[in-house]
Order: sequence, then structure tokens, then C-alpha cells
Amino acid sequence: MKRILITSALPYINGVKHLGNLIGSQLPSDVYARFMRSLGFEVLFICATDEHGTPAELAAIDKNMPVSDFCEEMWGLQKKIADDFYISFDYFGRSSSKQNHELTQHFATKLWENNFIEEVEQKQVYSIDDKRFLPDRYITGTCPACSYDKARGDQCENCTKQLEPTELINPKSTISGSKALETRKTKHLFLKQSLLKDKLEKWIETKKTWPILTKSIAKKWLNTQEGLKDRGITRDLSWGVPIRKYGKIWPGFEEKVFYVWFDAPIAYIAATKEYSDKNKMEDTFWKSWWLTDQGAEPVSYVQFMAKDNIPFHTISFPATIFGSGENWKQVDFIKGFNWLLYEGGKFSTSEKRGIFMDKALDLYPADYWRWWLLSNAPENSDTDFTWESFQSTINKDLADVFGNFISRVSSFSVSKFGNKIPSCQTYGTLEMETIERIEHHYGNLKELMQIIEIRKSCNELRALWVTGNEYLQKAAPWSIFKENPSKAGMIIRFALNLINFYSVVSEPFIPSTCMQIQNNFRFPKVTTFPQRATCFLNSLKDEQEINVPEILFKKITDEERITYQKRFSGIDRDETLL
Ligand code: 2FM
Ligand code: ZN
Repeated sequence: MKRILITSALPYINGVKHLGNLIGSQLPSDVYARFMRSLGFEVLFICATDEHGTPAELAAIDKNMPVSDFCEEMWGLQKKIADDFYISFDYFGRSSSKQNHELTQHFATKLWENNFIEEVEQKQVYSIDDKRFLPDRYITGTCPACSYDKARGDQCENCTKQLEPTELINPKSTISGSKALETRKTKHLFLKQSLLKDKLEKWIETKKTWPILTKSIAKKWLNTQEGLKDRGITRDLSWGVPIRKYGKIWPGFEEKVFYVWFDAPIAYIAATKEYSDKNKMEDTFWKSWWLTDQGAEPVSYVQFMAKDNIPFHTISFPATIFGSGENWKQVDFIKGFNWLLYEGGKFSTSEKRGIFMDKALDLYPADYWRWWLLSNAPENSDTDFTWESFQSTINKDLADVFGNFISRVSSFSVSKFGNKIPSCQTYGTLEMETIERIEHHYGNLKELMQIIEIRKSCNELRALWVTGNEYLQKAAPWSIFKENPSKAGMIIRFALNLINFYSVVSEPFIPSTCMQIQNNFRFPKVTTFPQRATCFLNSLKDEQEINVPEILFKKITDEERITYQKRFSGIDRDETLL
């Protein structure tokens, strides 16, 4: 398949995300998108802010801003931070777009026509002190499944169980903290997922290559004791997608909007339409990615997300698509991630615990974070970010291995041969052996990235860099330069070709450094990966001029580590430093 559609879970609009959010979707999806583009696939990489629901309302109230202004500002900020981390979205849209309103209402209408939506009168939590019905997230309490005492009314973030607010033990209002809650009658729309259980089960069964994490969570939700429960898809809020049917307000739902989890995944499609509309493209463009009946080249659709998002992407959103009866593209592969912990605990916005994306870039360049996070991606289990690990990974992999190779080769080259690349001589046995090792790791890297094994891919990339270092150590051009300058030149020429190769294949992982290397060395721009590394190991021409790049990676000192460990611990922190 030549076309790959990639979506990264939509970040909630309510605040700047932390490193755990970054490695949970945007960063691995970016590496995958960049890698697949370089392998020659046609890629469409889409994300957007998830703007509706109570978190947005609560955050806007907190900032004393109208929610639409707040969202606009935060969208700009989130987009800027993603750009600063070199996340290469083709489009970063907004779930509050006109396109998403229309598509969400379209899906609801279709589901209604096909009898997958019903109106249900139900009892809902009403806060006497707040004088309003409370949507799920405005209620917190103890999870009936795992006893976590800060579970929200829609989902327990500790055990990922989806909840109804009335199931919480000792519930209270998030707005006022009041426990004076009672249940009153109101009407809501329900998505009848239970009718689609068999279809979903069969569909999930066909996904032989899905990661264990994704499949086990999906199956757990399909086979919970209560069966696949129907989900309420409307909420008592004013900010969100109004409930409309055939273009008109749905009678009885004047005061309600769609539940954020109903409209958010639809925004993957809507953001593509936004992109298309903004660039004045024909509708055939976005439809060729999202509808399977357009006669376009088939698309492989890959989603990235953290594990708490998996039930919505394996059950509710596919149910929405199946239930519409239309030919919307279903996901082919879901890459789910476990949690990133921070120094043994959770990241916490309120306790200022952990590193958030904006602060991270004040401390170190994007590639430092990208490399640590990718090479430690929480693929098979939760992973702990520690400052010790960060310091040692960056200092070893980036500074001692990758950076050092480049600086040794380039400074030796310029000091002995000037700004020209030393002229050619046939490569010898050591070079041939090195090429073989490089081919081996490069082949592995390409295979692993196609099946989205991020950590293992990083291991292979590191092995490529290590191979270069070991080669240089063995070839030791500095010790033979005097008696055999032309052999030393051949070694340097080979090593410079390796640097060129590295700057291309490492680019999906550490793009900013690779661009810097390419510019500094004035390497010819390459947009696709070579079939085999060998094609690249003799690619530089005699007239190629080189410059010594500035130091690529400054080492992280013990003093920095200790300072930051303290500053971001959330305990005894020095307020003046925050
Ligand atoms: O967990 C989250 O951050 C959600 N905002 C993810 C939404 S993904 C999609 F469905 F939009
Ligand atoms: Zn729980």
C-alpha cells in the first residue's frame, strides 16, 4: 500500500501537555510519518486540538476568559509547541471547526436513521449548590473497581474503566466541591453500541498484527460483565457541537451538546476537510483519504494514542463509523502506549510535578527530549523518566557516540585536508566489513519502523552510530596520516559518507540536529532513503566542501541534573525558579 494516513490523538485544549503526552502520541506518530515519507510512501499526518467538554470550560473559567477565546489562544500555543518539537503534521486543526460541527451532526443523523441512536430519559446528577446538572467530568469520587479516590465521572484514569457518574462512591462536584448532589430526570441521546458488538468483535479479530496492549484493552471492553454498554453521547454544556438533526436543533436538546468523545475522533476526518478547504482543494482530496468508495488508491490508516484512549478508538469510534452505514475508512493499526512516569510517580499539573512541553524546550533542545523519549518509549510497560537516565542517555548516545563521531571526523578532515573532501581511493576490507554491519542494522531499522517498534528502532539507529565509532577507532586515520596520507584520506572520505548517511536516516528521530549537520556539511538535500546503505556510502562528490559543525550536543552536567531534579519535583520546590 502506497498511501498512509496517520492520526495522533487530539490533545485536550485545556493546557500545555507534558512529556508523557508527547511520547503517548505526537512524537511516535511524527517519527513514523517522517520515516514513511522518506521510504517513499504518500503520507497524510493529521492532528487537532480537542476543544470541547468540561476540561476546556473549566480551564477557561479559571483564566476568566470566554471559552472560544481561550481555545483560540491555546490552539496557537499548542501548535507553536508542536512546531518547536519539529512535529511534522500536515495539518493541525481544531475540533471546534465548522467542518467538525457539520460532520458530527451528519454522523448523528445517519446513526439515528439506522436506529443506532435512541433518546433515553435518565436520572442525572444535579448539584443543588451549583444549580445545574453536572456532566460526568464535573463529578469526582472513588472508583468502584479499583478504589482510586480521584476517579472522574466518565473514566477512572487509574484503571481505565469507563464509568457512569452515578457509579462513583462519595461523589462531589468539581465546580464547588459540594456534596449536595441529587439525581433528577433528563433526556439524553445514547449510541447503541451493544447492537454492534458482534460486528466489532469480528472486526477486531481480523486485526492479527495489533499490539497486545491495544487488543487486550479492546477485548476487555467488548467482554465486560455488563457487555458492551450503550453510551450517552450528549452533555449539559453550552460549549460543544449543538445537537442537530437534518440541520435543525434536535427537539428537546436545545440546552445540550454532543459529548466530547463523540465529536473528537470525528475531528480526525474534519481536520482533513479543514486542511482541504483552507488550501482550496477539491473535496475529492479529503474524501480520497477517508472514504473507501472513491476509487482512490487504498489507504493504510494508523492511529497513535495512550492506553486510556484505546477503548474509544477500538469500540466507540468504530461503532460510529459502522453504524453510519457509509463507507468511512476504519483504522487498520492502532499503536497504543503505556504511561510515562516522572521520577517514580505521576506527572501532575496542579503539583507542578514533571516536565511540560514548553518548559522542556527552555532547558534543552528538542532533539534531546525526542531521543530520550523515543529510545525509552513506554511500549511494553510503563516507563519512568528519571534525570539520571536522561543525563546518561543524552551524554552517551548523543554526545559520546553520535556527536563525537561527527566532530572527530570533521575536525580531522578540515585540519588535514582543508574544506574539500579528500579524494577517492577504493575502500578496503575494514570498510567492506563496516558496510556489511551498516546494511544489517539499516535493514533492521527499516523493518522495525514499518511495524512501529519505536524502542527497537532506536536500538538499531544507535547501533548504526556505534558502528561508525568503532570503525573510526579501528581505522585510526590520525595514526597513519604521516606515512600514508592517501589512506587516511580514504578513511575520512568513508567516514564523511557515513555522516551523510546518518544525517538522512536519523532525521525522523532527531530532525533539527540532522538539518544542522546537512547544512553545515553542505550535503546535497536528500528526501528519500536509499534502498541500501551501500548506495550512500560513496555518494559525496570530490567537489563537496565541508565545514566543521558547531558542537552538536553539549553534555548535561551533574549540577544541571541536580538543579532540575529539585525544580520539577513538585516538592519543596523553589518558587522563584518556576
Ligand atoms: O486523551 C486525550 O488527550 C484526548 N483528548 C484524546 C482524544 S483522541 C481523539 F479521539 F480525538
Ligand atoms: Zn479505577
